[in-house]
Amino acid sequence: MLVRAPESRPPRSIDYAARLVTLALPGRAAAKVDQARRDLSLLADAARGHRPAPVATLDTAVQCAPALSELDTLDALPGFLAGPAKSARRDVRVLVDALVYGRRPPPLVKRGARHRESGTAQVVPLAGSPSLTVSRRVKVVRVERETKDAVSLYLSEVDGHPLRFRAGQFMSVDVVVDGVRLRRAYSLAAPASGPGSDAPHITVKRVHEGRVSNQLNDHAHEGMLLDVLGPSGSFVLEPKPSGAARHLLFVAGGSGITPIVSLVATALHDEPEARVTLVYGNRAEQDVIFMDRLAALLAAHPGRLVVDHVLSDPSSAWEGARGLLDGATLGGRLDALGVQLGAVDQCFVCGPTPMMDAARALLLERGFEKGRLHEERFGQPEARTEARGATTPQPLTLKRGQSSHKVVVQPSQTLLDAALAAGEAMPFSCAMGGCGACKMICLDGEVAMEEPNCLSDDERAAGYVLTCVGRPCGPVTLTSGGSR
Ligand code: FES
Repeated sequence: MLVRAPESRPPRSIDYAARLVTLALPGRAAAKVDQARRDLSLLADAARGHRPAPVATLDTAVQCAPALSELDTLDALPGFLAGPAKSARRDVRVLVDALVYGRRPPPLVKRGARHRESGTAQVVPLAGSPSLTVSRRVKVVRVERETKDAVSLYLSEVDGHPLRFRAGQFMSVDVVVDGVRLRRAYSLAAPASGPGSDAPHITVKRVHEGRVSNQLNDHAHEGMLLDVLGPSGSFVLEPKPSGAARHLLFVAGGSGITPIVSLVATALHDEPEARVTLVYGNRAEQDVIFMDRLAALLAAHPGRLVVDHVLSDPSSAWEGARGLLDGATLGGRLDALGVQLGAVDQCFVCGPTPMMDAARALLLERGFEKGRLHEERFGQPEARTEARGATTPQPLTLKRGQSSHKVVVQPSQTLLDAALAAGEAMPFSCAMGGCGACKMICLDGEVAMEEPNCLSDDERAAGYVLTCVGRPCGPVTLTSGGSR
């Protein structure tokens, strides 16, 4: 039977009240309040004769209670009060940020040019206040140098609890450099299960003129606190029913190995019958991140893992494959390794844009199914198409439940920038089109987005847009779903 995802019903007073209470409670108590709120809602519905369908189908979608974390308690106020209250809150946050933490936002909320910083990172200048609505702090518990130009930062929640994540996901890290808050996405390189999963870490590769990557490479230290969002991202491997054997293919270039090594180790641990092939391109031996880790995985999983290092400029002593990892080289390596694409269940690719484009073209040309190809494309923002929206200010209407708010989007702003600047509580994480956290349904109007981004063909067909890389082409109405 086709099953439709549950939809959130419009928020009620009890939801806002619960949100207020949970803000003041620790995690476990908050979860109990949340559960009580859901139970009371169901009881109230039942008393009114509304019983949820036992199974949600395409025709009978369940309307579940909205997630508390998505509720803004100020939305409980009448419309004419909510707007000013949100503005005041934003101003207070900016003030506290400046006076208490010494973070001064730039005078203008302006999205600057994006620059490549590493294989999985890019720059997004932000106003000081918006990201404070959702960012949290994690602690650097260990710093380990991987290569001369790459460092791993081991992280835990500030309360000491382990960081939870899925293999292949990334964290958005905010760092203030010269008074400007900059955001980068760094993939978690640890496996999500099995040996090493208790030591989550991001790996940051230094790049030429990369302000954040250089700062973290030079100055990250044990005990340091980082402002982060996430983990997020959909570059993940969906589990196969236990016992199922499959062949997984991974192609990585440079620091694109960070999510890939997490996926490889997790798949080897979680799927004892799976076979894994990794083709990994770098310039020279000293540039290979995780050389030892990959060797350890090979030793731990004999006969199940193939790692093919391909170097474009190796030393004369190198005995492995040579060449720039372009389509011809990759095709040659797949042939040499005897990889039958027809027998590959899923393929994951992450690395520099030219390598990714070449891998994609080769795989599709050889008949590999598009739906089985997964790509992580954070690394090359300069190669992305710009979103060409309207050149004049456009109205944006945000529909949430029964309320709707109007915002004006300036030509220089994305939908997300404009909504945040107006004090709207907006979900987002990576702010670069890579995680889907800012996804909303476009009810009316047209939105131009930077491409490529993480939206699937199905999501596009369903009307989803990404507010973080979307610009209005005219008046636009968006909803977070459930009120379409
Ligand atoms: S915030 Fe990640 S895609 Fe928009």
